Amino acid sequence: MTDFVELIARKKAGRELSTAEIEALVRGVTDDSIPDYQLAAFLMAVCWRGLTEREVLDLTRAMADSGERADLSGVKGITVDKHSTGGVSDSTTLVLLPVLALAGLKVVKASGRGLGHTGGTLDKIESFPGFRVDLDREERIAQANRVGAVLCGAGEDLAPADKKLYALRDVTATVDSLPLICASVMSKKLAGGAGILLMDVKYGSGAFLKTYDEAEALAKLMTKVGREAGRVTDCLISSMEQPLTPAVGCHLEVREALKILHGSREGDLYAVSKALAEKMFALAGLSADFDGLIAGGKAVDKMAEIVRAQGGDPAAVFEPERLLPSPCRREILAGAEGFAAAVDTRAVGHCCCLLGGGREKKGDPIDRGAGLMFFPRLGGFVKKGEKIAELYAADPDKLDAGERALEKALTLSAEPAAVPPLFGRP
Ligand code: URA
Repeated sequence: MTDFVELIARKKAGRELSTAEIEALVRGVTDDSIPDYQLAAFLMAVCWRGLTEREVLDLTRAMADSGERADLSGVKGITVDKHSTGGVSDSTTLVLLPVLALAGLKVVKASGRGLGHTGGTLDKIESFPGFRVDLDREERIAQANRVGAVLCGAGEDLAPADKKLYALRDVTATVDSLPLICASVMSKKLAGGAGILLMDVKYGSGAFLKTYDEAEALAKLMTKVGREAGRVTDCLISSMEQPLTPAVGCHLEVREALKILHGSREGDLYAVSKALAEKMFALAGLSADFDGLIAGGKAVDKMAEIVRAQGGDPAAVFEPERLLPSPCRREILAGAEGFAAAVDTRAVGHCCCLLGGGREKKGDPIDRGAGLMFFPRLGGFVKKGEKIAELYAADPDKLDAGERALEKALTLSAEPAAVPPLFGRP
């Protein structure tokens, strides 16, 4: 019988826990036998003292085993999964699903709903009316074999220990611990069952990791844990110092992803999607060409096939302008001039939330048409009176709240400031 008070005390003192102790702890999380106050104390001790790599691997494995591990042995071919640690206007999954499927890979992806300042892939894909995210195991495997890509909700039984711990971390200021983030993300990826895992690790003002160094440390840890657990694993590190595209909010963001599938080669969303696809091709030993796979409407047709296969109406895949923004609209003009020196990307995401396009808490409804276009790009010159944003909401009160959230989102400077690179150390 594990004495959890003694276990917490040892972690508080910076001592290493055994595999059996970590497994007992995760069992206690899953069957609700450890009270929240003890778990909260344990999480805080981990925040301060950290975990060894062995402990992180044990915690990750035990959390992955806390529910059912997906068995993808029925999928013929190379199974792949990608994950972003969360960014604003980050719709790379929507670009990658059809492209990776066209390259012959089998994408089996379980995604979540958006919370806080970042949108969720499920919320975005449900912009196609009728799209079902609750496929059972047989349907997922059949669709992966037939279409090459499937996107579902992470069911209750995918790493349930993470759901419990994440909810506690959220209310005990223990989210920003690299070992805990690693175990949380990787337990879900391991339980998801894909053979190749690719993580997009974000840093910057719109990410929960603020510095490149932290993102690099997390990337190294996740790569190590994934490989030790027997999966081909790699990470890309990319900047979230500004939104990936001007569009924030479900309909507006899906339009941006569709632009790329229709052949646009501009902007950061294109660059990150292409970099992720190329890394995935390399991990799978393929010599596919991102632009070549998209050319000639192939990616659009594949996206429509995915949407149709999951019961959705694909009309907007062909005509993205069908994805309408919400009816109340307000333009925001620059009150001064200068070079765009910094963007508070979290504030831009929060603005979308206040407009009705995001969730403050789990289960809140979401207005898929709500959101904003935020036009300044770092390094660019903004003239006084120039339109810097367009806000969309279902009612004018929300426009007021969104406008207030955006007030300090943009910092202008008299001299051009250095623009952080999208990839690599700033
Ligand atoms: N996303 C997750 O799934 N878990 C974390 O801990 C942080 C981000």
